[in-house]
Amino acid sequence: MHIIPSGDILCARIEGIDLQQALTPADIKTILIALGRHGVLCFPRQTLDVDAFAAFGQCFGGLEINVANMFHEPNHPEVMILSNIKKDGKQIGLGDAGQGWHTDMSYSELIALTTILHAQKVPLQNGVPLGNTEFRDMHTAYDDLPADVKAAIEGRTATHDFDKFWEMMRARPGNTRPPLTAAQRAKKPPVSHPIAYTHPVTGKKVLYCTIGYVTHIDGMPAKESAELLDFLWRHQDQEKYLYAHRWTEGDVLMWDDIGTTHNAVADYGDNPRYMRRVQVLASLDYPAMVA
Ligand code: OGA
Ligand code: MN
Repeated sequence: MHIIPSGDILCARIEGIDLQQALTPADIKTILIALGRHGVLCFPRQTLDVDAFAAFGQCFGGLEINVANMFHEPNHPEVMILSNIKKDGKQIGLGDAGQGWHTDMSYSELIALTTILHAQKVPLQNGVPLGNTEFRDMHTAYDDLPADVKAAIEGRTATHDFDKFWEMMRARPGNTRPPLTAAQRAKKPPVSHPIAYTHPVTGKKVLYCTIGYVTHIDGMPAKESAELLDFLWRHQDQEKYLYAHRWTEGDVLMWDDIGTTHNAVADYGDNPRYMRRVQVLASLDYPAMVA
Protein backbone atom coordinates (compact mmCIF):
# COMPACT_ATOMS: atom_id res chain seq x y z
CA MET A 1 0.00 0.00 0.00
CA HIS A 2 1.22 3.50 -0.84
CA ILE A 3 -0.41 6.39 0.99
CA ILE A 4 -0.18 9.62 -0.98
CA PRO A 5 -1.45 12.74 0.85
CA SER A 6 -3.49 15.06 -1.38
CA GLY A 7 -1.63 18.17 -0.20
CA ASP A 8 -4.99 19.64 0.87
CA ILE A 9 -6.19 19.80 4.47
CA LEU A 10 -7.85 16.36 4.11
CA CYS A 11 -7.55 13.24 1.94
CA ALA A 12 -4.90 10.78 0.90
CA ARG A 13 -4.95 8.42 -2.07
CA ILE A 14 -4.14 4.80 -1.34
CA GLU A 15 -2.60 2.86 -4.23
CA GLY A 16 -1.35 -0.71 -4.42
CA ILE A 17 -4.25 -2.55 -2.82
CA ASP A 18 -7.09 -4.49 -4.48
CA LEU A 19 -10.14 -4.25 -2.23
CA GLN A 20 -11.70 -7.32 -3.87
CA GLN A 21 -9.17 -9.30 -1.81
CA ALA A 22 -9.52 -9.85 1.95
CA LEU A 23 -7.54 -7.42 4.12
CA THR A 24 -4.95 -8.59 6.63
CA PRO A 25 -4.98 -7.22 10.20
CA ALA A 26 -1.89 -5.20 9.23
CA ASP A 27 -3.79 -3.65 6.27
CA ILE A 28 -6.70 -2.78 8.56
CA LYS A 29 -4.39 -1.09 11.05
CA THR A 30 -2.62 0.89 8.32
CA ILE A 31 -5.93 2.05 6.86
CA LEU A 32 -7.37 3.01 10.25
CA ILE A 33 -4.33 5.10 11.14
CA ALA A 34 -4.44 6.76 7.71
CA LEU A 35 -8.16 7.46 8.15
CA GLY A 36 -7.52 9.23 11.46
CA ARG A 37 -4.62 11.20 10.02
CA HIS A 38 -6.09 12.21 6.64
CA GLY A 39 -9.86 12.13 7.33
CA VAL A 40 -10.71 11.01 3.80
CA LEU A 41 -9.12 8.11 1.92
CA CYS A 42 -9.52 7.50 -1.80
CA PHE A 43 -8.79 4.06 -3.28
CA PRO A 44 -8.89 4.72 -7.04
CA ARG A 45 -9.82 2.30 -9.86
CA GLN A 46 -11.45 -0.34 -7.65
CA THR A 47 -13.66 -2.97 -9.29
CA LEU A 48 -14.86 -4.87 -6.23
CA ASP A 49 -18.29 -6.55 -6.21
CA VAL A 50 -21.03 -5.92 -3.66
CA ASP A 51 -19.97 -8.86 -1.43
CA ALA A 52 -16.37 -7.62 -1.28
CA PHE A 53 -17.53 -4.04 -0.69
CA ALA A 54 -19.61 -5.11 2.32
CA ALA A 55 -16.74 -7.30 3.56
CA PHE A 56 -14.32 -4.36 3.29
CA GLY A 57 -16.65 -2.22 5.41
CA GLN A 58 -17.01 -4.98 7.98
CA CYS A 59 -13.28 -4.95 8.65
CA PHE A 60 -13.82 -1.64 10.46
CA GLY A 61 -17.06 -2.32 12.39
CA GLY A 62 -20.66 -3.47 12.10
CA LEU A 63 -22.66 -2.19 9.13
CA GLU A 64 -25.76 -0.07 9.65
CA ILE A 65 -29.07 -0.92 8.04
CA ASN A 66 -30.60 2.50 7.39
CA VAL A 67 -33.88 3.33 9.19
CA ALA A 68 -35.43 4.75 6.05
CA ASN A 69 -34.16 1.69 4.21
CA MET A 70 -35.84 2.07 0.82
CA PHE A 71 -32.98 1.40 -1.60
CA HIS A 72 -30.29 -1.24 -1.34
CA GLU A 73 -28.41 -3.76 -3.48
CA PRO A 74 -30.14 -7.16 -3.90
CA ASN A 75 -29.54 -9.42 -0.86
CA HIS A 76 -27.53 -6.66 0.82
CA PRO A 77 -29.77 -4.43 2.97
CA GLU A 78 -26.58 -2.90 4.42
CA VAL A 79 -25.37 -1.70 0.99
CA MET A 80 -27.46 1.33 0.13
CA ILE A 81 -27.85 2.78 -3.35
CA LEU A 82 -27.46 6.54 -3.72
CA SER A 83 -28.71 7.52 -7.16
CA ASN A 84 -30.88 9.91 -9.14
CA ILE A 85 -31.46 7.25 -11.83
CA LYS A 86 -35.03 6.14 -12.58
CA LYS A 87 -36.07 2.78 -13.99
CA ASP A 88 -39.62 2.46 -15.37
CA GLY A 89 -40.36 5.88 -13.85
CA LYS A 90 -39.24 4.79 -10.38
CA GLN A 91 -36.23 5.92 -8.36
CA ILE A 92 -33.64 3.15 -7.99
CA GLY A 93 -31.77 4.84 -5.14
CA LEU A 94 -31.88 7.60 -2.56
CA GLY A 95 -31.61 10.68 -4.77
CA ASP A 96 -30.81 13.39 -2.25
CA ALA A 97 -28.46 11.89 0.36
CA GLY A 98 -26.29 14.22 2.36
CA GLN A 99 -27.25 17.56 0.79
CA GLY A 100 -26.40 19.80 3.74
CA TRP A 101 -23.49 19.81 6.22
CA HIS A 102 -23.65 16.87 8.60
CA THR A 103 -21.85 13.76 9.67
CA ASP A 104 -23.35 10.31 9.28
CA MET A 105 -25.08 8.64 12.20
CA SER A 106 -24.28 11.18 14.90
CA TYR A 107 -28.02 10.77 15.63
CA SER A 108 -27.40 7.21 16.76
CA GLU A 109 -26.49 5.89 20.20
CA LEU A 110 -23.73 3.89 18.51
CA ILE A 111 -22.23 6.46 16.10
CA ALA A 112 -20.50 5.76 12.77
CA LEU A 113 -16.73 5.52 12.50
CA THR A 114 -16.69 5.77 8.73
CA THR A 115 -18.85 5.84 5.63
CA ILE A 116 -17.59 4.22 2.45
CA LEU A 117 -18.85 4.97 -1.06
CA HIS A 118 -17.98 3.14 -4.27
CA ALA A 119 -18.54 5.30 -7.33
CA GLN A 120 -20.29 3.32 -10.09
CA LYS A 121 -21.47 6.27 -12.18
CA VAL A 122 -20.16 9.83 -11.89
CA PRO A 123 -22.00 12.66 -13.70
CA LEU A 124 -19.78 14.60 -16.12
CA GLN A 125 -20.17 17.93 -17.88
CA ASN A 126 -17.65 18.64 -20.64
CA GLY A 127 -15.43 16.00 -19.07
CA VAL A 128 -15.55 17.63 -15.64
CA PRO A 129 -17.10 15.60 -12.80
CA LEU A 130 -20.15 17.00 -11.06
CA GLY A 131 -21.59 15.99 -7.69
CA ASN A 132 -18.50 16.62 -5.57
CA THR A 133 -18.56 15.58 -1.94
CA GLU A 134 -17.18 18.31 0.32
CA PHE A 135 -15.52 17.68 3.67
CA ARG A 136 -14.33 19.79 6.59
CA ASP A 137 -11.62 18.92 9.08
CA MET A 138 -12.95 18.85 12.66
CA HIS A 139 -9.61 17.97 14.26
CA THR A 140 -8.23 21.33 13.13
CA ALA A 141 -11.53 23.13 13.78
CA TYR A 142 -11.39 21.96 17.40
CA ASP A 143 -7.70 22.90 17.81
CA ASP A 144 -8.42 26.41 16.49
CA LEU A 145 -11.26 27.16 18.94
CA PRO A 146 -10.61 30.09 21.31
CA ALA A 147 -9.70 28.94 24.83
CA ASP A 148 -12.92 30.29 26.34
CA VAL A 149 -15.03 28.33 23.84
CA LYS A 150 -13.02 25.16 24.52
CA ALA A 151 -13.75 25.72 28.21
CA ALA A 152 -17.46 26.34 27.51
CA ILE A 153 -17.91 23.03 25.65
CA GLU A 154 -15.65 20.90 27.86
CA GLY A 155 -17.66 18.09 29.43
CA ARG A 156 -20.82 19.27 27.61
CA THR A 157 -23.03 17.16 25.39
CA ALA A 158 -25.36 18.13 22.56
CA THR A 159 -28.56 16.47 21.36
CA HIS A 160 -28.54 15.02 17.83
CA ASP A 161 -31.83 14.26 16.07
CA PHE A 162 -32.20 12.29 12.79
CA ASP A 163 -35.51 14.06 12.19
CA LYS A 164 -33.85 17.52 12.05
CA PHE A 165 -32.03 16.73 8.78
CA TRP A 166 -34.99 14.78 7.40
CA GLU A 167 -37.37 17.71 7.96
CA MET A 168 -34.82 20.21 6.55
CA MET A 169 -34.79 18.12 3.34
CA ARG A 170 -38.58 17.82 3.28
CA ALA A 171 -38.90 21.60 3.50
CA ARG A 172 -37.04 22.01 0.18
CA PRO A 173 -39.19 22.79 -2.85
CA GLY A 174 -40.07 19.64 -4.78
CA ASN A 175 -38.72 17.22 -2.16
CA THR A 176 -40.64 13.93 -2.11
CA ARG A 177 -39.41 12.41 1.18
CA PRO A 178 -42.41 11.33 3.26
CA PRO A 179 -42.40 12.33 6.94
CA LEU A 180 -40.77 9.70 9.17
CA THR A 181 -43.32 7.27 10.53
CA ALA A 182 -43.77 6.90 14.29
CA ALA A 183 -42.01 3.53 14.05
CA GLN A 184 -39.00 5.09 12.23
CA ARG A 185 -38.82 7.89 14.79
CA ALA A 186 -39.00 5.40 17.64
CA LYS A 187 -36.00 3.55 16.16
CA LYS A 188 -33.95 6.77 16.16
CA PRO A 189 -34.85 8.84 19.22
CA PRO A 190 -32.69 11.94 19.84
CA VAL A 191 -29.36 11.10 21.52
CA SER A 192 -26.58 13.04 23.26
CA HIS A 193 -22.85 12.99 22.53
CA PRO A 194 -19.88 15.01 23.80
CA ILE A 195 -19.26 18.17 21.74
CA ALA A 196 -15.51 17.89 22.26
CA TYR A 197 -15.31 14.24 21.24
CA THR A 198 -12.19 12.17 21.79
CA HIS A 199 -11.44 10.45 18.49
CA PRO A 200 -11.02 6.70 19.03
CA VAL A 201 -8.20 6.38 16.47
CA THR A 202 -6.19 9.59 16.94
CA GLY A 203 -6.90 10.03 20.66
CA LYS A 204 -7.33 13.78 19.95
CA LYS A 205 -10.39 15.93 20.52
CA VAL A 206 -12.55 16.88 17.56
CA LEU A 207 -15.52 19.24 17.23
CA TYR A 208 -18.47 16.85 16.96
CA CYS A 209 -21.44 19.14 16.48
CA THR A 210 -22.95 19.56 13.00
CA ILE A 211 -25.75 21.89 11.94
CA GLY A 212 -27.40 18.94 10.18
CA TYR A 213 -28.32 17.00 13.30
CA VAL A 214 -27.62 18.99 16.47
CA THR A 215 -30.68 20.65 18.00
CA HIS A 216 -29.35 22.02 21.32
CA ILE A 217 -26.65 21.83 23.97
CA ASP A 218 -27.88 19.79 26.89
CA GLY A 219 -28.54 21.49 30.23
CA MET A 220 -27.96 25.02 28.89
CA PRO A 221 -30.57 27.81 28.75
CA ALA A 222 -32.07 27.90 25.22
CA LYS A 223 -30.68 31.32 24.27
CA GLU A 224 -27.16 30.53 25.46
CA SER A 225 -27.27 27.16 23.67
CA ALA A 226 -28.45 28.78 20.42
CA GLU A 227 -25.70 31.44 20.59
CA LEU A 228 -22.93 28.95 21.29
CA LEU A 229 -24.15 26.63 18.51
CA ASP A 230 -24.28 29.56 16.12
CA PHE A 231 -20.65 30.31 16.94
CA LEU A 232 -19.57 26.65 16.58
CA TRP A 233 -21.36 26.26 13.24
CA ARG A 234 -19.86 29.47 11.79
CA HIS A 235 -16.44 28.48 13.07
CA GLN A 236 -16.48 25.00 11.52
CA ASP A 237 -17.87 26.40 8.24
CA GLN A 238 -14.63 28.20 7.34
CA GLU A 239 -13.03 27.61 3.94
CA LYS A 240 -9.66 26.77 5.46
CA TYR A 241 -11.10 23.46 6.72
CA LEU A 242 -12.56 22.50 3.33
CA TYR A 243 -11.61 19.70 0.96
CA ALA A 244 -13.82 18.98 -2.07
CA HIS A 245 -13.58 15.50 -3.53
CA ARG A 246 -13.97 15.30 -7.30
CA TRP A 247 -15.12 11.80 -8.11
CA THR A 248 -13.77 9.39 -10.70
CA GLU A 249 -15.64 6.17 -11.47
CA GLY A 250 -14.10 3.31 -9.52
CA ASP A 251 -13.18 5.47 -6.52
CA VAL A 252 -13.78 3.86 -3.17
CA LEU A 253 -13.95 6.83 -0.82
CA MET A 254 -13.74 6.20 2.91
CA TRP A 255 -14.29 9.10 5.28
CA ASP A 256 -13.94 9.64 9.00
CA ASP A 257 -17.40 10.39 10.40
CA ILE A 258 -16.02 11.52 13.76
CA GLY A 259 -13.18 13.79 12.63
CA THR A 260 -14.81 15.32 9.54
CA THR A 261 -18.16 16.72 8.38
CA HIS A 262 -19.44 16.50 4.81
CA ASN A 263 -21.90 17.84 2.27
CA ALA A 264 -23.07 16.46 -1.08
CA VAL A 265 -23.10 19.08 -3.87
CA ALA A 266 -26.31 18.67 -5.89
CA ASP A 267 -25.25 20.35 -9.14
CA TYR A 268 -25.90 17.52 -11.62
CA GLY A 269 -29.70 17.44 -12.11
CA ASP A 270 -30.71 14.35 -14.10
CA ASN A 271 -27.14 13.62 -15.19
CA PRO A 272 -26.84 10.05 -13.86
CA ARG A 273 -24.99 9.32 -10.61
CA TYR A 274 -24.79 5.95 -8.86
CA MET A 275 -22.95 5.22 -5.62
CA ARG A 276 -22.92 2.20 -3.36
CA ARG A 277 -22.67 3.04 0.33
CA VAL A 278 -21.99 1.34 3.63
CA GLN A 279 -22.04 3.06 7.00
CA VAL A 280 -19.66 1.48 9.48
CA LEU A 281 -20.59 1.65 13.16
CA ALA A 282 -17.90 2.54 15.69
CA SER A 283 -18.34 -0.89 17.26
CA LEU A 284 -14.74 -2.13 17.62
CA ASP A 285 -11.92 -1.37 20.04
CA TYR A 286 -9.99 1.07 17.82
CA PRO A 287 -7.41 2.17 20.41
CA ALA A 288 -6.39 -1.52 20.68
CA MET A 289 -6.43 -1.98 16.89
CA VAL A 290 -4.06 0.93 16.25
CA ALA A 291 -1.82 0.42 19.29
C1 OGA B 1 -24.04 10.08 2.56
C2 OGA B 1 -23.62 11.30 1.91
C3 OGA B 1 -22.56 12.19 -0.03
C4 OGA B 1 -22.58 12.03 -1.50
O1 OGA B 1 -24.24 9.09 1.84
O2 OGA B 1 -24.17 10.06 3.79
O3 OGA B 1 -23.53 12.30 2.58
O4 OGA B 1 -21.85 12.80 -2.16
N1 OGA B 1 -23.32 11.21 0.61
O5 OGA B 1 -23.31 11.17 -2.03
MN1 MN C 1 -23.65 11.75 4.77
